[in-house]
Order: sequence, then C-alpha cells, then structure tokens
Amino acid sequence: MLKAMDWLEEATARTRWLGRPFKWKDRTKSTQDDARQWLLNGAPHGAIVLAGYQTKGRGRMGRSWFSPALENLYMTLILRLPPTAPLGTLGLFIAVRSALALRTRLRLPVMVKWPNDLMAEGKKLGGILVEVTQEKGAMWALVGIGINVNVREQDFPEELRPIATSLQIVSGKQLDRGEVLKALLLSIEEGWSHWEKGKAESFWQDFQNLDFLRGRSVQVLLPDGRLVEGVASGITKDGQLILQTADGTTLYVHAGEAHLKK
Ligand code: BTN
Repeated sequence: MLKAMDWLEEATARTRWLGRPFKWKDRTKSTQDDARQWLLNGAPHGAIVLAGYQTKGRGRMGRSWFSPALENLYMTLILRLPPTAPLGTLGLFIAVRSALALRTRLRLPVMVKWPNDLMAEGKKLGGILVEVTQEKGAMWALVGIGINVNVREQDFPEELRPIATSLQIVSGKQLDRGEVLKALLLSIEEGWSHWEKGKAESFWQDFQNLDFLRGRSVQVLLPDGRLVEGVASGITKDGQLILQTADGTTLYVHAGEAHLKK
C-alpha cells in the first residue's frame, strides 16, 4: 500500500530538475498563490506545488476552475524564464508537451485547442494558466496545470457536463494520478531546453498533429471584448492563431478564447 506521499516521490524521481522540490497540500485556495508565496521565500526553478483540492481554483480570463477532491491534478510549476524565452508561446508549449505525454505514454487521444486547452473527444480535459512575475532580478512563470483525471460524468456540475471530460471518462477506467504526473513532468522537462532557447520549431511541428481547431469555423473572444471569426488555419511560429475570414482576409490573433461556431 502506497503511503500518502509515495506517489509524488515516485512521479518526481525520474526527472532531472522538474518537480524538485515539490510541496503537497491536501487542500488549498489555489496552487498559484502557494507557488507565488514559495517563490518569494526562495523556491528554485523547477519547484512545483500540488493540491488534493482547491477552494478557489483559478482559470483563464477571470474564470474559476472546478477543483474537487476527486483524484485530479492541480499543480503549479515554478519556472525561471531566461531572456531568450519566447514568453508568448509558453502556455501553448506546455499544452503541446502535456498532450504529447498523454498520447504517447498513456495512449489517450488528446488534442490542443489554441491557445492552451487540452481536449479529448471534443470536450475540455484540462487547462493551463500562465502568470508571470519578476523576482530576484529575473522573470518567472507560475504555470498552473489543471487536468481532470478521475472525475466521472455525474461529478461535474450540470453546466459543465456538455463541455468537460476527464481521462477516466475517455479511457473508461480509473487512472493513477502519479502515472499522469510522471508523464507530464518528463515530457515538459524534455522540451524545455529547446523552448527556453527560443527554438519554437520543435513544438510548432508537434502542434500540427494536435491542432483541434484546424479547418473549423471559429469565433474568438478577444481580451478587449471584441469578437472575430473565421476558419482556423494553424498558428504562426510565435503562437498566433491564423484565421481566414469570410471576406478573404487573414487575421492573426494574439490572445483570446476560441469557440467552435455552431
Ligand atoms: C483554464 O483553462 O482556464 C486554466 C485552468 C488552470 C487550472 C489550474 S489548477 C492548478 C492551478 N491553480 C489554479 O488555481 N489554477 C491552475
């Protein structure tokens, strides 16, 4: 029988630097806040915070993140960003490496929806939240990763059921959180040295086979509240979504929230 922390020890034992040291909280408001506090108190590059459940889990664009105590993954990676790092692609890079991990190591059909959602069978499986801060003369990213691992259909609040899924729902069996964590950490660590040097090609190439939106009609809600629409036609190497609009123009979208057009 595994002791409470054994699965975490095991999951972080195979990486070189990512996941060491780690902090575990049975319950917390948000691992993003814990990570920020730990960074102020001297957390090194690669440290991670994980929680059993969150009472104020945060999502992108001011939304909350459904964070029940149901053997999901809620974690924040503390990462130092060198000046060469292409910051605008960090969320997408993490999503691509996470999707690759789930596909190759766990054989699950995961796709990436620009800018950084993990999708399976047309529903959202996980999300990435990037917060950037300056500390000790360097830029740091607090990268929050939330993945629905063992939520069942009936565990989701009614409004999320049509749009959210979990690894358990997709695979038809309960999954070991430690296996998922290990796969994610190894995959992100493996891609990191290329990404931090600004070599976008490596993950841009991987994204080509993972692009959930490609060829579909989408609407994108921009951060300033405007709505643009068109057919999604891939991304640029610096992470902008390419949209072909009905009047024949090409739009490059920096940031926003994309939805399939009904
Ligand atoms: C999104 O798709 O909106 C991003 C969701 C990010 C959720 C994770 S769970 C761990 C970390 N702590 C938080 O409060 N949020 C992120």
